[in-house]
Amino acid sequence: MDKRTFIKNISLLGVTPGLNHIDQWIKKYDHIIPAELASDETFWEGIRKGYRLKPDYINLENGYYCFLPQETLENYIGHIRNINYQGTYYMRTTQMDDKRAAAEKLAKLAGCSNEELIITRNTTEALNMVIGGLHWQAGDEAIMAEQDYGAMLDMFKQVAARHGVVNKVLSVPNHPANDEEIVNLYADAITAKTKLLMVCHITNITGQILPVRKICDMAHSKGVKVLVDGAHAFAHIAYTIPELHCDFYGTSLHKWLSVPLGAGFLYVNKESIKDVWTLLGSGPDSKEDDIYRLNHTGTHPVHTDMAISKAIDYYLKVGVDRKETRLRYLQHYWTDKVRNIPNVYVNTPVEMQRSCAIANVGIKGIAPGELAVTLHKKYNIYTVAIDSANVHGCRITPNIYTTPKDLDQLVKALTELAKQ
Ligand SMILES: Cc1ncc(COP(=O)(O)O)c(C=O)c1O
Repeated sequence: MDKRTFIKNISLLGVTPGLNHIDQWIKKYDHIIPAELASDETFWEGIRKGYRLKPDYINLENGYYCFLPQETLENYIGHIRNINYQGTYYMRTTQMDDKRAAAEKLAKLAGCSNEELIITRNTTEALNMVIGGLHWQAGDEAIMAEQDYGAMLDMFKQVAARHGVVNKVLSVPNHPANDEEIVNLYADAITAKTKLLMVCHITNITGQILPVRKICDMAHSKGVKVLVDGAHAFAHIAYTIPELHCDFYGTSLHKWLSVPLGAGFLYVNKESIKDVWTLLGSGPDSKEDDIYRLNHTGTHPVHTDMAISKAIDYYLKVGVDRKETRLRYLQHYWTDKVRNIPNVYVNTPVEMQRSCAIANVGIKGIAPGELAVTLHKKYNIYTVAIDSANVHGCRITPNIYTTPKDLDQLVKALTELAKQ
């Protein structure tokens, strides 16, 4: 019996891994390439066992917050206990070193220098620090899209009111013909007064992956700096930050890395650090090109930051490529089945490279809010309604514990509702 057949057979006997056996379980599949493993339900069933799942409904709303697998949760609780036990002694002795170590591990995962990344509470804090902290002058222009996240658009509005900055808001098509269509949209908005361009790495309302590197190269050729909203990209798709060529990057770790709530990071490339005013005052000795100048947070729940390390271990153990490939497989598993159903419209591009786990779907004649309620009440599927810009539908976000059976229920629901 070969290794694969053996693994299949023990699973048929109901022998899937417990919490302590997940490492061996994953190891057994080391030799299988991500493309093949993407549809291997036995393997993913083992991964699913590592989560405690609420049985009340099918959760297809992992976009706001991807809760933790049990081993990360237990590690997190251990940190809470330890810090509570050690009290101020911990805060005064090892806290800062531990935080630095967590940031350094993140920087390694992001492929950037330790001198370019700090831990924040979330993307909102990371990006608002840049938007609010640049040295704006009246008449400066900033570029963004109506599909961008509200908290950032609100900060740009504040900057406009406070400093006289002119905001130029463009609209990203749901189904671009090619990368150039998107790049040209941003290029056309740039003038001699443009100081900053903000772009989403993955648009949260549709799951569309934008050609960030091409946008950055285009913007730099015109002397414009780029801020990337990576809230939905980090630990979802595989990349390193330097390869994007951006100046600033912010993300939330409680989304795809499954870190406990309240963690994110800000990346600022070395030469841009001096361009940002701090959000909170930094000490008198801080150097203008030291990113830790931007990291004065006061006392905060440090155990959240301490859980980052284990979440990274878990992510790497599952596998960066394996995770991305599985998530894309799951999205196409259902979108390919509903894309051509009359009255159903998928607001996410069909091309493989333009999306991953997230997709958005609407039904003609049913308002997004009504669709979300019907999916929940009638079909036991939890999603979120999106009804803004050019996107009207429900955002569907599986995670690695999601099964094709869960998605069959979604396909059934959409098929029936589209007939009505
Ligand atoms: C594109 C995008 N940016 C920023 C955020 C804000 O993330 P957080 O609330 O973790 O700061 C979100 C949250 O969903 C998002 O989708």
